[in-house]
Amino acid sequence: SAVRHYNFTVLLTNMTKLCATKSIVTINGKFPGPTLYAREDDNVIVRVTNHVQYNITIHWHGVRQLRTGWYDGPAYITQCPIQPGKNYVYNFTLTGQRGTLLWHAHISWLRATVHGAIVILPKRGVPYPFPKPDKEKIIVFGEWWKADVEAVIKQATNMGLAPNVSDAHTINGHPGPVTNCSSQGFTLHVESGKTYLLRIVNAAVNDELFFKIAGHNLTIVEVDASYTKPFKTDTIFIGPGQTTTALLTADKESGKYLISISPFMDTTVAVNNVTAVAFLRYKGTVAFSPTTLTSIPAINATAVTNIFNDNLRSLNSKQNPAKVPLIVDHSLLVSMAIGVNPCATCLNGTHVVAGMNNISFVMPTTALLQAHYYNISGVFTDDFPAKPPITFNYTGNYTGNLQTMNGTRLYRLAYNSTVQVVLQGTTIIAPENHPTHLHGFNFFAVGKGLGNFDPNKDPEKFNLVDPVERNTISVPTGGWTAIRFRADNPGVWFLHCHLEVHTTWGLKMAFIVDNGKGPNESLIPPPADLPKC
Ligand code: C2O
Repeated sequence: SAVRHYNFTVLLTNMTKLCATKSIVTINGKFPGPTLYAREDDNVIVRVTNHVQYNITIHWHGVRQLRTGWYDGPAYITQCPIQPGKNYVYNFTLTGQRGTLLWHAHISWLRATVHGAIVILPKRGVPYPFPKPDKEKIIVFGEWWKADVEAVIKQATNMGLAPNVSDAHTINGHPGPVTNCSSQGFTLHVESGKTYLLRIVNAAVNDELFFKIAGHNLTIVEVDASYTKPFKTDTIFIGPGQTTTALLTADKESGKYLISISPFMDTTVAVNNVTAVAFLRYKGTVAFSPTTLTSIPAINATAVTNIFNDNLRSLNSKQNPAKVPLIVDHSLLVSMAIGVNPCATCLNGTHVVAGMNNISFVMPTTALLQAHYYNISGVFTDDFPAKPPITFNYTGNYTGNLQTMNGTRLYRLAYNSTVQVVLQGTTIIAPENHPTHLHGFNFFAVGKGLGNFDPNKDPEKFNLVDPVERNTISVPTGGWTAIRFRADNPGVWFLHCHLEVHTTWGLKMAFIVDNGKGPNESLIPPPADLPKC
């Protein structure tokens, strides 16, 4: 294995989109940012130098960070931010991981512009478990606000309202020609007869997305850097933080085909109906040739999301077995709710809060991992409840859940114990879909259903053979998802909804995993350059 060095310089960069120029925070002047390339088991060293007036951290979303939690990146969870003028060197090994992931800023809403793809190739000489493509292409989805993103967050936090929706979705940084003022939008160039591996990353801030290419099917082979049983589909459903790798065969003679990304959200809150388009273009196709239109899924196309998610299965081959925990040591039921609490200083006298098990997570001012490592008291408590404080009909309109408490409450796991978390969606204000991300682990999505989770009946139907393995899972609107993982990574690990607006409102918690007893079961000591708060 090799050592890969990268320099990430955090800059303010002028960008023109939607007819206007504004200054955004970038890495090395790029939007999306640079792609990080490596092979399985490589050591990656990224020096981040902060030249802007904002605090920043970078998270390597989906990288396990085995025993190296200091480099995971979420601000105030595993590290204090890198302050203006300072730098920090992230140093981690991609142990046993290959596939597509992403990196992004993990403080405030900076990930709106600070993100990029991570491509981890298999070890030299190890083939893909699917036919070798002729070429690989990276496709990154994003969102663009005409307004300053900081102003959008303030609106969501200070006023207690839903934030302004973004003004456009972007594909590899391009809003698409619908806006009249961007250039041509993104074009995916292909040659007839060739196959392409599309490494698709959803780096949007608040939207789960549908992706379609007119006239072409895609074969899904991997999600979140875990191989899947191949399956054919004409629509990809992908949440923020998720990645999907798919084979595309350019099986037409020529032509220009429409590509669309459109949002999924089953709610009246923050509906963003901006569809971005791009083009798939065959080599030799003359300009102005007609495009074929895709039928774009409706904004509430829940059935499409269910079909896609139900088709995802671990490859579970001899080389890549699915090691699903069959016995559970820690079992949690976690309700995920958006509600309103009274707020004297807010515009309407109320503000929106979000909580897990009725606790709206309060960000500490000392990083939790440091507090845990140095035994600093008063930063957090380890009494996050294993179930909601009251039993209620999660999918009904029960006002009891509006009484959300504040707290920095963690849940403690013994090293190497097995964990089951049932993430129960609610419909307290409106049904919300939650793409939920766990740091530090891959988990198996063993079951899901609509309505209330039934602890007596539902586990019987769990798939413990080949459930999909991932790091971010969508908790269905008005339903639940059950995940299982082994707590084999000591440290403090964030669990949160990857819709940034919900995270801002408090839809997050964290696990502490204690050190094990063996020599290789402990967190490494903190690096000397670890930022101070
Ligand atoms: Cu991709 Cu905690 O985030």
